[in-house]
Amino acid sequence: MASTLPSGKMKLAVLISGSGSNLQAIIDACAEDSFPAQIEVVISNVAGAYGLTRAKQAGIPAVIIEHKQFPDRPAFEDALQSALDAYDIDLICLAGFMRILTSGFIARWPNKIINTHPALLPKFGGEGMYGKHVHSAVLEANEKESGPTIHYVIPAVDKGEIITQSRVAVEGDDTAETLAKRVLEQEHVLYPKAIKLIAEKMGFKSK
Ligand code: GRF
Repeated sequence: MASTLPSGKMKLAVLISGSGSNLQAIIDACAEDSFPAQIEVVISNVAGAYGLTRAKQAGIPAVIIEHKQFPDRPAFEDALQSALDAYDIDLICLAGFMRILTSGFIARWPNKIINTHPALLPKFGGEGMYGKHVHSAVLEANEKESGPTIHYVIPAVDKGEIITQSRVAVEGDDTAETLAKRVLEQEHVLYPKAIKLIAEKMGFKSK
């Protein structure tokens, strides 16, 4: 588990399920000496996730824990916890991780799990609001702007405290795909910023 007295860089576990472009943004940020965090382990619940390749290319330990191999969520999360226990993790970053975590797991990591959501929470969040569904709902509601939100994870889906957001204009000719692309570009900038903010607030250093 995490140490209480910060020393050196904040140690991250990044949880993914897919492409891992946000993971890549975090890897790239961590490559800077001045960045106050480092990735200890990447964990994917999907064996073929491209993010695993990104982790390997960066020389970061990559672990596969397939949720479908377990009878229920708590059993999956016990395996997740065991994998995390092998490292000294200060913060868990969900980056396109497509499993809802139970309150039992979240309670083990109070204020130590963050997530990125591709819309301006508290709007367009909650169960079922993921991927294309989010951007279609934003367009349907005729919103003038959208953008990513980085927030703490609590048992109520997408309802945890907002850490930071950034905004993009919704264009008249936007489709869910074009909007998704612009929001994702912003996520890649915002997620490392949020990690830096937390690390500095918690007193971690760049060395
Ligand atoms: C991001 O848009 C994130 O907000 C959502 O899933 C996408 C993940 O993309 N939860 P990637 O795997 O980081 O490329």
